[in-house]
Amino acid sequence: MSTCLQISMDSYRSHIDCYLLAQLEELGEQSPRLRDAMRYSLLLGGKRIRPLLVYLVGELVEAPMARLDPVAASIEAIHAYSLVHDDLPAMDNDSLRRGQATCHIAFDEATAILAGDALQTLAFTLLSSASGFNPKAQLSMLKELSIAAGYQGMCAGQAIDIDATGQTQTLAELEAMHRLKTGALIQAAVKLGAIASGIDHPDEQNALARYAQAIGLAFQVRDDVLDIIADTQTLGKPQGSDVQHRKNTYPSLLGLEQAQHKCHTLRLEALHALDALPYNTDKLALLADYIVKRDK
Ligand code: IPE
Ligand code: IPE
Ligand code: MG
Ligand code: MG
Ligand code: MG
Repeated sequence: MSTCLQISMDSYRSHIDCYLLAQLEELGEQSPRLRDAMRYSLLLGGKRIRPLLVYLVGELVEAPMARLDPVAASIEAIHAYSLVHDDLPAMDNDSLRRGQATCHIAFDEATAILAGDALQTLAFTLLSSASGFNPKAQLSMLKELSIAAGYQGMCAGQAIDIDATGQTQTLAELEAMHRLKTGALIQAAVKLGAIASGIDHPDEQNALARYAQAIGLAFQVRDDVLDIIADTQTLGKPQGSDVQHRKNTYPSLLGLEQAQHKCHTLRLEALHALDALPYNTDKLALLADYIVKRDK
């Protein structure tokens, strides 16, 4: 990875981790065990790609970081919840996440379900309590995030994933599923980052949306590829889980080489979209590279 992106990733990761920890600490003592499970799932490991996207979009126009913190945190909270539920026995039934026992194993299934629920609602508490936004912008972020996370976004993708497990999907169905289960939240990170930063020109919003669509799909295609080519220790989650559970993935449908080629095409699409922006988009371009070449 480029040193420049690595530095941004590291510094934004520690920044958002401190912010998230502080938010959890403010929650109170209603159920310390539930809060421990939330902390475990939110903070122990993870690349923080979605917060990074929010911050890098903000950097385009030098938006103040404090404005972006609750936005980045809310998206990461939704993401963490989606992983806790994704790993449950009723879903992917995985026992390793971020190099440690999955939440339902480290705690118990009921606690994992509730930790996911509480992380999801925490996202909306954070976003709705953020100060300094004009109410219209804040409402629009809340709406975009709720749509991306729910029935028209991530949850629909996960439902299709479960229904299609063990069945053969067409390429169009697979792509639509990936765009929902993973793309929607990545697109929301870019969109909310733009709203929070005051990027309101329709052409700029369109260019960012095209970038986000391309990297959102590429992120899941690379995740599918890594399930085959990476090792469990590097991944921090069980290598071969998709194959074992007969999941529909790009490599299962097209083969490994075509799946890797798809990542390459999507990277070019993302870079092309950035060309339309009147800002320095170098870091967003490096992030697109990272997404399709990452090893975990
Ligand atoms: C994993 O997401 C689940 C997918 C949407 C593919 P990440 O690869 O972003 O997971 P962490 O947050 O870094 O652990
Ligand atoms: C999960 O996709 C996408 C989510 C919405 C969490 P995967 O099931 O492929 O994610 P991993 O591989 O378990 O991280
Ligand atoms: Mg899954
Ligand atoms: Mg999974
Ligand atoms: Mg996967």
